[in-house]
Parts: sequence; C-alpha cells; structure tokens
Amino acid sequence: MNVTDAVLSRSSVRSFLSNPVSNELLEILLKKSSRAASGGNLQPWKIFVINGSSMQKFLTFQESWTIPEVPAYDIYPQKLKEPYRTSRFELGEQMYELLGIGREDKDARISQIMENFRFFGAPCAFFCFIDRQMGPPQWSDLGMFLQTFMLLAKEAGLDTCAQEAWSMKHDSVSEFVKAKDSDILFCGMAIGYKNDTATVNSLKSERRPLQEWAKFL
Ligand SMILES: Cc1cc2nc3c(=O)[nH]c(=O)nc-3n(C[C@H](O)[C@H](O)[C@H](O)COP(=O)(O)O)c2cc1C
Repeated sequence: MNVTDAVLSRSSVRSFLSNPVSNELLEILLKKSSRAASGGNLQPWKIFVINGSSMQKFLTFQESWTIPEVPAYDIYPQKLKEPYRTSRFELGEQMYELLGIGREDKDARISQIMENFRFFGAPCAFFCFIDRQMGPPQWSDLGMFLQTFMLLAKEAGLDTCAQEAWSMKHDSVSEFVKAKDSDILFCGMAIGYKNDTATVNSLKSERRPLQEWAKFL
C-alpha cells in the first residue's frame, strides 16, 4: 500500500469486529508512528494501550464509575464559526441519515454517541495524553503522531477511530491508566478490524473544496 492509498482509504470506523490484535503489532505500529515530526523533536505524546483482557477490565471499570466527570477541555469552541459549524452539522446529519435515525429521535442519537465509550466494539485502543505544560504547538504534534498511526494501521489491515469523546471521561480514564496529575488526556484511538457489514462504516465524510481553504499567491 502506498501513502496515497493509505490516505485515501482511511476513514473513521465506528463498528469493529471482535477479532483480536496482538500487542506485538501495536508495538510495531506505535514505534513507527514515533517517527512523526514534532517541533523541537519533543515527541510529546504519552500513550496507554488497552488490549484484550485490559480492554475488558477497562470497560468494566468504566461502567462502575459513578463520580461525575469534569471534561478535560471544550471539544469545540462555544460559538463555532462558519464554515466549521456547517461541516460539523453535516457530518452528524449524514451519519444519522445513513443509520435511519431521525432528527427527533434523541435517544437513538445519544445511544450512537455512547458507542464511543465502548470503542465501537474495537478489541483494543489507546489513550493519548500530553503534559499540561504543553501548548498548541505540542498538541498539534499529537495530531502528527495520531495521523501517522492511523495510516500505518491501514497498511497493516487495521482501521481506527480517533476519539475526542474520551476527553469527557478524563478522570476515570486517568485513574484507570494511572496517569500523572500533570498530564491531560487528549483523545482515545479505537483500533481493530472493520465490520464491513455495518452501515455506519459506509459513511464517507465530505471535504470542503480546496479553493475555500487554500490560496496560491
Ligand atoms: C482528534 C480527533 C478526534 C475525533 N473524535 C471523534 C469522536 O470522539 N467520535 C467520533 O465518532 N469521531 C471522532 N473523530 C472522527 C471525525 O469525526 C472524522 O475524522 C471526521 O468526520 C472526518 O471523517 P473521516 O475520519 O472518516 O475521514 C475524531 C477525529 C479526530 C482527528
């Protein structure tokens, strides 16, 4: 698989098969992903992998967590400007339409969102933390690392879904992985083999045309 094929075939997968993924493979992918560029070569990512039995333990731990959680950060700005607002809205509408979930069916919408907290059935995942000292430049380095991982996963026959949703469960995740108080959770990453029969996985997200976001001077 060449880079273009990996980029074009990657999409966020929201239904996985239960087929296991070995820690050895995850280690290889993570090691390669650490070749991602980072400003000053800080490599500010901190990764906690859960797989197989630790995934089961984590999901059980999550279900029994009763303390109200404080979100790690606001996922989106409060008054999201255009064109971002529309892009976000359209993605949601496209997904719910595909799943046959109407606008008024709040319960079905919420239960689809809640799938995030079971990693969409993925057998393994990781959490990506960063030291609270770091600012926007280092947070963007996390993106470099995550995208590199997602493309390498594709090459290895795996699929992924990056999940900011986990930022809403910062406290329980931090407790489970025993993260330092000085670290903050950015996101989760669901990893596994794609369920090809799941309708949700046929979602092909749109992109705004190049003319709208690039200028050649
Ligand atoms: C950092 C990051 C966090 C994301 N968080 C979530 C999430 O919590 N839940 C989810 O279903 N999708 C999540 N996504 C997936 C985006 O919705 C998706 O990347 C976007 O709609 C483009 O679609 P594509 O990935 O299929 O190309 C996230 C993506 C990124 C890059």
